[in-house]
Amino acid sequence: MSILLTGITTSGTPHIGNYIGAIKPSIEQSKNFKNNFLFLADYHSLIKNQDPELTYKSSLEIAAAWIACGIDTKKVNFYRQSSIPQILELSWILNAVTPKGLLNRAHAYKAAVDLNENTDPDKGINAGLFNYPILMSADILLFDADFVPVGSDQKQHIEMTRDIAGRFNNTYGNTFTLPEPIISENTPLLSGLDGRKMSKSYNNFIKLFSSENELRKLINQIVTDSLLPGEEKDTKSSILFEYFKAFTKDSKLKDIKRLFKEGMGWGDLKKMLFEIINQELSPLRQKYDELMNSPESVEEILIEGEKKAIIQAEIKIKEVREKVGIKPLHG
Ligand code: TRP
Repeated sequence: MSILLTGITTSGTPHIGNYIGAIKPSIEQSKNFKNNFLFLADYHSLIKNQDPELTYKSSLEIAAAWIACGIDTKKVNFYRQSSIPQILELSWILNAVTPKGLLNRAHAYKAAVDLNENTDPDKGINAGLFNYPILMSADILLFDADFVPVGSDQKQHIEMTRDIAGRFNNTYGNTFTLPEPIISENTPLLSGLDGRKMSKSYNNFIKLFSSENELRKLINQIVTDSLLPGEEKDTKSSILFEYFKAFTKDSKLKDIKRLFKEGMGWGDLKKMLFEIINQELSPLRQKYDELMNSPESVEEILIEGEKKAIIQAEIKIKEVREKVGIKPLHG
């Protein structure tokens, strides 16, 4: 029975690009696996974000968002990384078998060093960034994950996990499963309102749970060309069409293509887009608001998930400790 596992770094508030690119497809995918692990990578987030209020808020918002979007918490093991101490134990054990040179080659670390051109190469780089791939390996290997859905920027981390698992297995005997990444090529990437990559740093995003008014306002800001009503609009180059594509099924999309061809005005197209997105998000928004108003119910759901995950984590860490020779001293 295959095991699917993935982590979400708890940085910031989810936007609709995260919803289309990660949350929605992951929830769909989780239905095909009996054994699912989905967790908040809150320890990972600390290397970038050292504002305690933001760390707390982001964990709550991201947990509430996934629950509101329909993750089946009875079926999926949903937990915080920081609630499973065995992840950190394993992380140290893996540190001991990981060549430093492997970490030197990590893209994220190298990019940070490159930014320090002409100055001290270590400037502003914490050891957490350097060791990030090991913590991520521990997340994955502790639960013997077979498949790890990730964005293409994380592919190298999965390769490193396989490498680290292989080294441990060679040293101590077969212990860990080598995971395969699932990098979905056909997950739609949603552009930001201005057509650049949707990103907090460009401030061109739509918060997943914006209010209805805010959603309408932001959709109105999506950049279009200056063609007038009655003039044929090109779907291929249109950001607006990209949004339609992300939120509608094939048959409906055909109708929308026709409206573009027939020259419906941008204002009317935007109204229509708002209706479609709002219809999908409004029940989720309601659930999200309920959860945000009752953080203790989110806490309760996570604790349930953590109880289940810890049972498995304990079995695995015991095996690993014994393999390396850390065990009771009675022969
Ligand atoms: N590094 C991943 C990201 O930034 C998040 C993550 C942490 C993760 N641990 C993981 C993803 C384990 C998959 C498996 O997206």
